[in-house]
Amino acid sequence: MGTSKRGGSARQYAVFMQIRETTMDDLGQVNAVFEASDRARWTKETIRPRDDRVVLVAVTAGEVVGAAKTHFHPDPDGSAPAGHYLGGVVVAPEFRRRGVGSALTRARMEWIWSQASSAYYFANEHNTASVRMHEALGFRPVARFAEFHGVTADEGRSELILFVATLQGFPQQIVNRNGSSGEDLPR
Ligand SMILES: CC(C)(COP(=O)(O)OP(=O)(O)OC[C@H]1O[C@@H](n2cnc3c(N)ncnc32)[C@H](O)[C@@H]1OP(=O)(O)O)[C@@H](O)C(=O)NCCC(=O)NCCS
Repeated sequence: MGTSKRGGSARQYAVFMQIRETTMDDLGQVNAVFEASDRARWTKETIRPRDDRVVLVAVTAGEVVGAAKTHFHPDPDGSAPAGHYLGGVVVAPEFRRRGVGSALTRARMEWIWSQASSAYYFANEHNTASVRMHEALGFRPVARFAEFHGVTADEGRSELILFVATLQGFPQQIVNRNGSSGEDLPR
């Protein structure tokens, strides 16, 4: 697969991959990716097919190299709206910067567009890789939160930024009152 550089900052070459729905048989490989990335493991319940979400893997040469899901929140939480949220994406460290995370996210956005015209996503304010990847896919920051549906960033020491992307490609202004970027959103 070329260079073994891990999680490098420079763009390597894109990888040929299949994006498909996750099956129970993928669970072991998905959790190997999550463990290598220091992320919480998925369970069978995380993968169980449901009408209100999609759970995807990226596979190359028969190997799971990334996984991602959506989550439907039926109720708003303060000014964070109800709707379809991207529910986390993780790429194996040795496969990063090759377009895997973007492909998993584009596929989830396409699934959301079949259900709704807005897609939401929360990021830890310090997760530069995640923020840049999602901004490149059309997400725009709209608000900052200390907590969302019980989830905090760095146990409350950091803030969560809410991002939105719309089917029309025009960011929706939800809370941002001054039209600024996420870096200077009202706190
Ligand atoms: C965030 C993550 C999923 C990105 O996956 P990826 O496959 O490396 O992303 P892509 O190759 O599609 O990157 C697309 C663009 O995002 C930006 N980007 C990705 N990683 C970056 C990094 N480490 N630093 C800066 N920008 C980055 C770049 O603009 C990149 O384009 P480029 O490579 O042409 O410069 C991956 O870093 C990861 O698994 N991180 C750990 C888990 C995590 O934080 N998940 C997000 C939680 S919401």
